[in-house]
Amino acid sequence: MSDTSRVDRLLTQLTRSEKIRLTHGAVDPEGRATGYIQGVDRLDIPSLSLVDGPLGVRIPAETSTAFLAPIALAATFDADLARRHGQALGAATRSAGQDALLAPGTNLIRVPQNGRNFEYFSEDPVLSAAMSAAVVSGIEAEDVIATPKHYVANNQETYRASISASIDDRTLRELYLPSFRAAVNAGAGSVMTAYNSVNGTRMSDHHELVSEVLKDEWGFDGYVVSDWYGTEMAVAAARGGLDVEMPAIPMGETAGIEDETADQGNSAPEEFEIPETVARGMPDPATCEGFNAALPAAIEAGELSTDRLDDMVRRVLGAMDSIGLLSGDRTTASVESDFEDLAFEVATRGTVLLKNDNTLPLADEADIAVIGPNIDTALLGGGGSSETTPEMESAPIDGIRARAIGTVTETYGLPRIADLSMFELLAGESADETDSGREPDIDGAVAAAADADVAVVFVRDRATEAIDKDDLRLPGRQDELVERVAAANDRTVVVCNTGGPIELPWRESVAAIVQNWYPGQVHGEAIAAVLYGDVDPGGRLPVTFAPEETYPIASDERRYPGVDRTVNYDEGVFVGYRWFDREEIEPTYAFGHGKSYANFTHSSATVVDESVRVAVQNTSDRTGREVIEAFIRPPETSTIERPVREFAGATSVSIAPGEERAVTIDLDELAFSRYDLEQSWTVDPGEYVVEVGRSSRDIRATAAIER
Ligand code: BGC
Repeated sequence: MSDTSRVDRLLTQLTRSEKIRLTHGAVDPEGRATGYIQGVDRLDIPSLSLVDGPLGVRIPAETSTAFLAPIALAATFDADLARRHGQALGAATRSAGQDALLAPGTNLIRVPQNGRNFEYFSEDPVLSAAMSAAVVSGIEAEDVIATPKHYVANNQETYRASISASIDDRTLRELYLPSFRAAVNAGAGSVMTAYNSVNGTRMSDHHELVSEVLKDEWGFDGYVVSDWYGTEMAVAAARGGLDVEMPAIPMGETAGIEDETADQGNSAPEEFEIPETVARGMPDPATCEGFNAALPAAIEAGELSTDRLDDMVRRVLGAMDSIGLLSGDRTTASVESDFEDLAFEVATRGTVLLKNDNTLPLADEADIAVIGPNIDTALLGGGGSSETTPEMESAPIDGIRARAIGTVTETYGLPRIADLSMFELLAGESADETDSGREPDIDGAVAAAADADVAVVFVRDRATEAIDKDDLRLPGRQDELVERVAAANDRTVVVCNTGGPIELPWRESVAAIVQNWYPGQVHGEAIAAVLYGDVDPGGRLPVTFAPEETYPIASDERRYPGVDRTVNYDEGVFVGYRWFDREEIEPTYAFGHGKSYANFTHSSATVVDESVRVAVQNTSDRTGREVIEAFIRPPETSTIERPVREFAGATSVSIAPGEERAVTIDLDELAFSRYDLEQSWTVDPGEYVVEVGRSSRDIRATAAIER
């Protein structure tokens, strides 16, 4: 909690220029922070260091725990685990000497090709909100300021800084705002605005969404910070409700050229012409106006009130005070600084078993052919501001070798698939798909597969901030590699290391498919534990997997990537599984889908107050993890078209062989409500059906509830 009298007293002592200094970025003298606000020594106000990002702490040339991608965290459907994960992120931030973490990324997954989907949670607002709140409360518990981002509708990287999202109020309220609201309610000390505009107004100066909705309506009392070079008109931004501008451009200068504006590499070197694909995803520092350049004159001219300046400073100081920075009684980090075990736990728990024809788990003694272009490298994440430098790396082949008792052979089959990094592209490096001198050797992979009991093929995509993926296919000849290996060994397992949905054209030919996302530095040991059944795959899909042309944004440029710099969200609230339900399209793998190595039966469901209860029995002879999901079907009498079903909550439980467990799932009010343009949040009276099951397309029990 912040002490308002301490903050108010400081406000009376600060000069105007000191106040302005507290509203914008400066150079971190240590060169470590991503964003830095200078303190005021005279009044014992310390500096504030902000650091990226959602997958771990990013400090140039320093190592930190490289955690799994947030989409994989969401796949656990487990808010308690997500809170512990958030706490580890907070503690890692603390031990790196930083004060605010630029995380979580909590934009809804609307576009399956979005280059940053791996940094976000889900296509569903209730799941995104639950994860967001859990991660925020974990970070803040360590006396670190959480910064949910990017507020709001930054749902694609193509033209992210120049596009306007055209969204109606109902869609905004029901889909895109809930995860931010949940983050605020969970105690986020800061919120980062998006680069894009919404309905024609840049989010950095969106009075309605920033001042009216976020601050007035939701009661957010922390500071709102711009995305890097995200402000175009400083005064409009400050008047709109932006409190802090990053990374700061000195008076009279533009572009991130002078070392004074060094921003950890988020801008291009001046002499280099950046490729169009990246350029269209980058903000232009030259059109960005900084607070230090513009605010003094604006206040003199009466264009910006001194009250507003005081409010900006009050919010920054309040957030600093809330983590003990002003009083000097910041708590010491409460969790260990060794996050290896947790990184392993979340990486295994987020792994989704999509298909299994009696091939997994692997027998310890089985002879395994491990195949794939990148089996000798851990997949840490996608490119951009979330990149981290890991403390250690466990490659898939090493994890499997360490665990196997049978013979293990390794074959790349294809040249290495290169990582894609916004920073490297900005520095002029090639965007080529492959980056090693290795020759393709699909025949070698086929021969190895034919000789083994089981073939395990690792495939991957490549994604980065600033660029959307061209399509949902695997890069290079990986589909061909899988087809050929599957033809040689009918016990072929495919492990997919991708940051979001992909197409799986070979899925009928293979025995098992494991969706392993970007698992971070523990990649090899975590996937080995799942493949050998030491840990039951606890993950379920937080996004629908389907052919690219069946998603709501497909084949309509207006919806994606936009026409004339406007992207129309006219699919409305029908995103993700809501679209597939409405259009009656069978997805490849539905939202919520994922298998266990155990088998479960569900009893009938009973609704008690705002929750639903079922008994779940493990009918197999091994311990397994079941994720029980609840959906709400609105009354048929509703006069407004509503989704067929809306996800309302889930519980993840580990159940011993033969054991029956009573499970309670709290039903989120959002799943009952709709946003009415005249009456605001409304619950249509009538009979709601609570569905309990294993995915949006696998309902095992129902119960009715009158509202
Ligand atoms: C990203 C933010 C990030 C910031 C600072 C921007 O490019 O959009 O997510 O926090 O840079 O690195």
